[in-house]
Amino acid sequence: MELARKLIDTHDLTKDEFAALVRAADEPGTAEMLREEAAKLRKQYYGNKVFMRGLIEFTNYCKNNCYYCGIRAGNKNAERYRLTKEEILECCAQGYALGFRTFVLQGGEDPWYTDEKIADIVRAIKDAYPECAVTLSIGEKSRESYRLFREAGADRYLLRHETANEEHYGMLHPASMSLKVRKQCLYDLRELGYQVGAGFMVGSPWQTPEHIAEDLVFLKELQPQMVGIGPFIPHHDTQFADKPAGSVPLTLFLLSVIRILLPKVLLPATTALGTLDPRGREKGMQAGANVVMPNLSPVRNRKQYELYDNKICTGEESAQCRGCLERRVESVGCVLVGERGDAVK
Ligand code: 5AD
Ligand code: FES
Repeated sequence: MELARKLIDTHDLTKDEFAALVRAADEPGTAEMLREEAAKLRKQYYGNKVFMRGLIEFTNYCKNNCYYCGIRAGNKNAERYRLTKEEILECCAQGYALGFRTFVLQGGEDPWYTDEKIADIVRAIKDAYPECAVTLSIGEKSRESYRLFREAGADRYLLRHETANEEHYGMLHPASMSLKVRKQCLYDLRELGYQVGAGFMVGSPWQTPEHIAEDLVFLKELQPQMVGIGPFIPHHDTQFADKPAGSVPLTLFLLSVIRILLPKVLLPATTALGTLDPRGREKGMQAGANVVMPNLSPVRNRKQYELYDNKICTGEESAQCRGCLERRVESVGCVLVGERGDAVK
């Protein structure tokens, strides 16, 4: 309780204090107190708006082998697909008609899409929809590549750091990947003027309260405009198939903590949260989240973008998701808006 109070008063804690706060997350009253404060702050900066981002999962090819991820290169059972530029633009057209003003291009790290191809797609979207924001989420690239995408018109970039602890990072990723590179990418993106999103999985294998504390300290230092967190969910074709899923209550708790830590942050109620709990996203909004990212990908490809098991909304048309989300957002006293929804300064 005392630490929760201190967090509310100072918007920060030391690493040890964060770890203690996380360990005491289920003490009676603590989560409620943080949730109320988080809801208050969200309201102060964003009113009752929940922003929608249209997610276009344009390739599930990936050269990486992150141990948790269903579309990792080593998964020979994954059915691979790529969307053409025309298909991507068609997703945008449908999304635009449904009121979306942010398009998120997300994919595995797929070298088939050269930097020039990505830049060309970004330019085409910005030409067709100049008032819309384009967000990229295509993994680790060189600073020069990030610069090229930025010059092509990309506004934002999502790259979760996954865990800010070096050793833990090594337990979730093959030796070819490193936390140093990941962090460098985030700093490069920030310097290039992107609105940057970092984030991590809650309850990934071997995660401890100390690791989460390091995530929070890192976020405070990075000051990203967006933070994506969602529970880890095992995928049957990975080496983590038998690991337990992350906790919904802890994810909600951390959403509130992050809202208090970075009051103006854009914070999605993630699909993973909605996958583990039928009202997970609504609870996320009540805990301080203010973004939802429904799928605009072609329905025929949605099941193939399977990062984890039982992912929701893979059978729905985009319009159905929009209607469904509208009701869900309203059920917790918020309103779903299509505007760009940049982070407030
Ligand atoms: N469970 C939950 N989230 C996952 N992600 C990847 N695999 C899983 C999983 N098994 C998340 C990662 C990645 C984002 C696109 O999806 O955090 O950054
Ligand atoms: Fe997709 Fe409910 S949000 S169907």
